Amino acid sequence: MDERIVSLKAQFEADLSKIENVADLEGIRVSYLGKKGSITDLLKGMKDLSNEEKKAFGQDVNILKNEATNRIAEKMQELKEKEIEKEINSMPSFDVSMPASLDRGSYHPITLVQRQCEAVFRSMGFNVEDYSEVVTDYECFEALNIPKHHPARDMQDTYYLENGQLLKSHTSAAQNAIYKKYKDALINDGTPIKAIFPGRCFRNEATDACHENTFFQMEGVMVDKDISISNLIFFMKTMLSEVFRKDINVRLRPGFFPFVEPGFELDISCLICGGEGCPSCKHSGWLELCPCGMIHPEVLKAGGIDPEEYTGFAFGLGLTRLAMMKYGVKDIRDLNGGSLKSLSQFTDDE
Ligand code: DAH
Repeated sequence: MDERIVSLKAQFEADLSKIENVADLEGIRVSYLGKKGSITDLLKGMKDLSNEEKKAFGQDVNILKNEATNRIAEKMQELKEKEIEKEINSMPSFDVSMPASLDRGSYHPITLVQRQCEAVFRSMGFNVEDYSEVVTDYECFEALNIPKHHPARDMQDTYYLENGQLLKSHTSAAQNAIYKKYKDALINDGTPIKAIFPGRCFRNEATDACHENTFFQMEGVMVDKDISISNLIFFMKTMLSEVFRKDINVRLRPGFFPFVEPGFELDISCLICGGEGCPSCKHSGWLELCPCGMIHPEVLKAGGIDPEEYTGFAFGLGLTRLAMMKYGVKDIRDLNGGSLKSLSQFTDDE
């Protein structure tokens, strides 16, 4: 190898070993590799050599050039690490033997699922409404086409107050108030009614792994001109696919509820087997999730909306059931038990 290359290499290494900061390193880079740098100069001097010599010399200079570039990059890394270390060492020290504070709370799994559903529906233009837990018989039943002594009331026995009011047995109890709140905007300005209302519901139930006297639902309604079952399917599919973070298939089966006509049970493809059949879905490939339907004309009328002109869909999503499915909770009583040990396993996975 040409002597000039050997000595320049040695000089470069000697200079590099003295560098202690990034600014000086940049100086070295310019003085060796810059346009007027010593390595670049070597290449310029090649013109006086024979063709044979040029080839060997050129190759060696290029090797040196690459080596120098790599060494500078390595040194840069080394200097940066040293700077970080220096910064860490200059921070105030703390007592590692102090016990960590571990009493940070976590959200309840139902809150997590509720917030996810709310976020998805909000993004699709739905308002999120809050509603009372104590309601009138009219709101909970009569306005929903369930007159006194109707057999549909049997399944929704709840807790009555002495003044005749009751703890709502389903979130459908808020429907009437929602229609009344938004009907003027619908009729006068053509603004569709799009609302969801999550809430706590109560029923006189004997409790077991699947039943509780207190549980959560999320009702949703959409009313406008020409709303059809396809709109219902679209919104449900979008929401469920977001919540479960995978493409969810849905199917509708006929179901009876006095406040919808036609009424359906909406099933989703089994989350465990994806629809092939397994013990979780009783080998059917489907899980029953959400009753729904097209709002009954009488219910629209009770809310001050003309059923000849407007149609809508409603659904009553079981939030408690959804949370159990999403987090694999097998016994509903674990959710209301208040045991922090089981509930603190759930953190927001957003
Ligand atoms: N409120 C019903 C219940 O709790 C569920 C329901 C069924 C809600 C059909 C709806 C619906 O909005 O369209 O049993």
